[in-house]
Amino acid sequence: MAPTIHILNGPNLNRLGQREPGIYGDQSLSEIEKLAGDRAKARGFAIILRQSNHEGQLIDWIHEAGDSAGIVLNAGAYTHTSIALHDAIRSIAAPVIEVHLSNVFARESFRHHSTLSQAARGVICGFGANSYCLAIDALADLSAP
Ligand code: DQA
Repeated sequence: MAPTIHILNGPNLNRLGQREPGIYGDQSLSEIEKLAGDRAKARGFAIILRQSNHEGQLIDWIHEAGDSAGIVLNAGAYTHTSIALHDAIRSIAAPVIEVHLSNVFARESFRHHSTLSQAARGVICGFGANSYCLAIDALADLSAP
C-alpha cells in the first residue's frame, strides 16, 4: 500500500481564489489540492487533504497523521502565533514541512517570525501553489530508501 501524506491547510485558506489574489493568486484551494494530489500520486503517495479555520482541529489532525509519511502544513496566520501547533509538531514522529504560498519574508514584519519553523523539518515559501508540490518532493526524498 502507498505511504500516506497529509496536506493540512489552516485559517482563511478556504478563501483562496477570492482572498487577496494579488498576493495569493487566483487558484482556489480545490485547484491547489488537485495539483498537490497529482504530485503526490506521481511520487507514490496516497494523500489526505484537509482545511480548517480552527487551531484545535489542526492539532487533532497533526496527531492523527503522526505515523504517516509526512505532513505538508500551511497553518496560515497561526504560523506566526501558535505555540500549541509548535508543540503538536514536536509531539509526532512524521516530518512536517511548513509551507506558504507567499514569500512571508517579503511582507509585513509580523509575518517574518514563525513559531513553527523550529519544530518543522523544513520550510518552503514564496512559490504559490508550487510550494506544496516542492514540499511533497521533499517528503518523497526524505522517505526514499
Ligand atoms: C500564508 C502566509 C501567512 O502569513 C498568512 O497569514 C496566510 C497565508 C501563505 O500561504 O502565504 O494565511 O500562510
